[in-house]
Amino acid sequence: MAKTVLGVLASGRGSNLQAILDAIDANQIRAEVGVVISDKPTAAALVRAKEHGIPAVCIDRKQFDSRAEFGKALAEVIEKHQVDLVVLAGFMRILDPDFIRLFSGRIMNIHPALLPSFQGLNAQQQAIDYGVRLSGCTVHFVDEGTDTGPIILQEAVPVMPDDTADSLAERILVVEHRLYPQAIALYCDGRLLSDGRKVTILSKEEQ
Ligand code: GRF
Repeated sequence: MAKTVLGVLASGRGSNLQAILDAIDANQIRAEVGVVISDKPTAAALVRAKEHGIPAVCIDRKQFDSRAEFGKALAEVIEKHQVDLVVLAGFMRILDPDFIRLFSGRIMNIHPALLPSFQGLNAQQQAIDYGVRLSGCTVHFVDEGTDTGPIILQEAVPVMPDDTADSLAERILVVEHRLYPQAIALYCDGRLLSDGRKVTILSKEEQ
């Protein structure tokens, strides 16, 4: 089976990008990262990509008048690099609906909470403020809502009484770094079957 080409979109430090690169290097994901795109020129994710010899492209949102124009520019770069799966890894921009339709079923995101709880920004602080005993992370396909798409994998993480948003984020991140590569590997192996909101994980025999 041919390798899946990933296009990773990241706005910040890129620790999930790094976990994905490490998993590819360890042959845990049958894929290659074709391009890393950031909306921020200073994103550490771009440096990580360059260090890995991967094309690193900055598409600065400020250069575009609208979300739609920005989405078109993203799509052009993604298509140029023949990306099969768009991987959002801490990408802090809401994507244009036309962009999402163009890559429908081929965009994944990781969110640092157990969806559908605590969608949107500051998910860890939301979990602490609500007083939940468990939070965690969710890998999901992206639809036109914010953190509302079909769920692929989730894992719970305890919330401790003295947690701050930062200490909880750190605990969740450890799980993110394992769960995201695992979800991408399932996709690349053809083991994710989507039917509306339900994503079925096929066994190795069924793939
Ligand atoms: C992660 O917590 C992820 O769940 C969220 O943004 C953060 C990105 O972190 N979507 P990093 O840039 O991958 O280190």
